[in-house]
Amino acid sequence: MRLLRGFGKLHQAGCNGPGPDAQPDSPVSPVNVLLVYGTSEGQTRKIARFVSSRLLQSGQKVLTADARESAFIPEPRGFDAVVLAASLHAGHYQRPIIDFVKRNRSAISGKTNAFLSVSLTAAGSAPRDAADLARCVADFVRETGWTPERIHHVAGALRYSTYGLFTRWAMKRIAARRGGPTDTRRDHELTDWDDLAKFIDAFIGTPSATVGAHAQACRSRAPLSGP
Ligand SMILES: Cc1cc2nc3c(=O)[nH]c(=O)nc-3n(C[C@H](O)[C@H](O)[C@H](O)COP(=O)(O)O)c2cc1C
Repeated sequence: MRLLRGFGKLHQAGCNGPGPDAQPDSPVSPVNVLLVYGTSEGQTRKIARFVSSRLLQSGQKVLTADARESAFIPEPRGFDAVVLAASLHAGHYQRPIIDFVKRNRSAISGKTNAFLSVSLTAAGSAPRDAADLARCVADFVRETGWTPERIHHVAGALRYSTYGLFTRWAMKRIAARRGGPTDTRRDHELTDWDDLAKFIDAFIGTPSATVGAHAQACRSRAPLSGP
């Protein structure tokens, strides 16, 4: 069936709540999360998979969708929370994400929501990096009319193996200027997974320590199809 053709399309899974081993403060009813992402080279899809799996481990329900599959993405109205993720290319996020947000702006704003901005700049620590990212997000907010409740900047990847000749040369120059990895014979992942996990746990209100316990409770009752 087209809707469940695999990750990158739509994917829904969940756990029916904490099992006997869960901590007393595990959430009783799962939060139903819609997670929509835009990607150009694939790193934001990988990030969305990680977020989805983290949410499932804490007992939430998640539907993950690539913004390009817009015809098959359900309306945010039916969810408790919405997470959008997209990556920067030449200062802009993917058009399908912008269009999705524009179409669903008021429904998204009415939910607990967050925006994951994926970029190379997020790997930097200079004041200029923060200012650049703030400018890109401000443009996104202006264009979509949506002000995310929470914004998290996630360092992406340099996937030299996927770039054409010119892009590889240009990205190598940019990386060199920023003190980033310049070995174009391999790809370089800059994503801080621990930091992202902490953000997601805080977003959903789950203390990090309960995530593992809840995952165990879920596994002991029913096999879940992971992202
Ligand atoms: C052609 C190109 C342009 C990019 N432009 C920017 C940019 O303007 N700012 C930035 O911080 N990162 C930029 N990046 C880095 C990407 O945001 C980073 O590689 C990210 O991991 C891409 O995510 P994706 O694989 O999901 O598309 C660019 C990368 C490429 C290949």
